[in-house]
Amino acid sequence: MFKIVERERVNPVVNKFVIESPIIAKKREPGQFVIFRLHEKGERIPITIADADPKAGTITVYVQELGKTTFEMGKMNAGDEIADVVGPLGLPTPIEKVEGDIFAVAGGVGSAEVLPIARKHKEVGNKVVAILGYRSKDIVILEEEFKSFADEVYITTDDGSYGREGFVTHELKDHLDKGRKIAEVIAVGPAIMMKVVSDLTRHYDVKTMVSLNSIMIDGTGMCGVCRVEVGGETRYACVHGPEFDGHKVNFDLMLKRLASFKEEEKISLDRYNAAVGGENG
Ligand SMILES: Cc1cc2nc3c(=O)[nH]c(=O)nc-3n(C[C@H](O)[C@H](O)[C@H](O)COP(=O)(O)OP(=O)(O)OC[C@H]3O[C@@H](n4cnc5c(N)ncnc54)[C@H](O)[C@@H]3O)c2cc1C
Ligand code: FES
Repeated sequence: MFKIVERERVNPVVNKFVIESPIIAKKREPGQFVIFRLHEKGERIPITIADADPKAGTITVYVQELGKTTFEMGKMNAGDEIADVVGPLGLPTPIEKVEGDIFAVAGGVGSAEVLPIARKHKEVGNKVVAILGYRSKDIVILEEEFKSFADEVYITTDDGSYGREGFVTHELKDHLDKGRKIAEVIAVGPAIMMKVVSDLTRHYDVKTMVSLNSIMIDGTGMCGVCRVEVGGETRYACVHGPEFDGHKVNFDLMLKRLASFKEEEKISLDRYNAAVGGENG
């Protein structure tokens, strides 16, 4: 069992959890994730390791409430225990000193997922520019954390309630048009946002890596559920990724696959709401 030592609601839809997990805390690298199973009858959900404290033996994650299991996790508090935490899974992000700026571009809870990657880039001496996009001001997260190390931080909101009105691509396009020397764009967020970022940077021939959030079950390359098409080849996001060259990913296929279980996900959430007498989702 893995004890939750801290839980904080950081915006109306995202919770931060600090969880005891000494082995994962020691071994994890930026870009890697864990799979949680909350209890014996729970489903498995993949979540990125946003931070870790090897001395305290804890990992930190940010979980957006979207469906049955993430709502269930949102009800857990400090002192509660999670049945299984498997990891670290996935390949670590390759990070080295490069010529040119690193642009960390994130949408929503993707900002928690790109945070450890951006921080490590700064640690190895790269200039880091963060462009963080949210629907509105009330769901902005981690702004101060990024400002504590990044060279430049830009916030966009869809409705203009904070930062620049518009999407992350509007901000990114301005930097590309100015002819900045960009070594790499790392985009993490909803699949559609990563597709649009990749379509944009393709025109400027700027290397773009995306972290694919395909549906996963085992996380070890056995079940095949997380398969994606990259450069015409089938890859398993859990073991070959989750990061891939955004210019080579077949996003249309991925978006179709992400919607495959919509009906089952709705039934599962309806049953959960009926059981807890709530109206989540
Ligand atoms: C490698 C990886 C890292 C991730 N890291 C994070 C993270 O740090 N924080 C976070 O909040 N979420 C993260 N996700 C997404 C998270 O796993 C899903 O939101 C979660 O599994 C949904 O479970 P559910 O039962 O609550 O919702 P479900 O009922 O299963 O789904 C609800 C909605 O979410 C969509 N969904 C289902 N599975 C996924 C998925 N794997 N990715 C994206 N959308 C999905 C469905 O299409 C549906 O619209 C990550 C996914 C992957 C693959
Ligand atoms: S999650 Fe099963 S093969 Fe990747």
